[in-house]
Amino acid sequence: MFNLVLFGPPGSGKGTQSSKILEKYSLVHISTGDILRIEQAKESPLGIEAKKFMDQGMLVPDEVVIGMISSKLDENPNVAGFIFDGFPRTVAQAQALDNLLDFKNNPINVVLSLLVTEEELKTRLISRGESSGRPDDNEEVIMKRIKEYHAKTSPVADYYKSKNKLVEVKGEGTVDTIFDSLCDEIDNAQE
Ligand code: AP5
Repeated sequence: MFNLVLFGPPGSGKGTQSSKILEKYSLVHISTGDILRIEQAKESPLGIEAKKFMDQGMLVPDEVVIGMISSKLDENPNVAGFIFDGFPRTVAQAQALDNLLDFKNNPINVVLSLLVTEEELKTRLISRGESSGRPDDNEEVIMKRIKEYHAKTSPVADYYKSKNKLVEVKGEGTVDTIFDSLCDEIDNAQE
């Protein structure tokens, strides 16, 4: 089994690259942002609760997302591995994920961290907001998401660095160039 975390700030290209990686390596994609948006669209109790946080650019409480991940792992018992996109986003989430995976004897193999300047993140997200209408892609909420990232999510990189699992990859350039760099690192981690 091969488990990969694709890590990076809002707009760093996690979703874009995940869809290419899972096609090439046959991994199961777990995106907490996508799961929460589906719950919102269904207007489920979870979706209604999560919307309050997401619309303000704040993280949804740990216990909610950890429960979602635990269910997703249980739903996919015999797979080649997982690509985690947008999770873990706090050190508590990273510790919970390690516990869940240790229990199954299938730890995280590598964490690929996309490096993108703040200027480029804002440009990408504002442009996506104009075309997709995603409600959290307006300038005010984007700034809050970036602030939340620095406060709560960037320590996750240190957590994995201390476990020698973090690999930084330049996240600017063409989608294909970045994909090639990510594939090189995945192949290295699989050797
Ligand atoms: P989530 O959906 O995970 O949002 P995010 O991390 O802010 O990530 P994005 O989807 O905005 O960006 P991305 O890195 O996937 O980039 P993308 O490929 O789309 O989370 C949304 C909310 O849900 C959070 O704010 C929070 O409230 C909640 N949430 C989710 N997970 C949570 C968790 N674990 N804990 C607590 N709360 C949680 O690319 C962005 C744009 O750039 C696209 O338009 C794309 O086409 C473009 N682009 C991509 N690559 C390039 C490139 N190389 N050059 C130019 N443009 C590019």
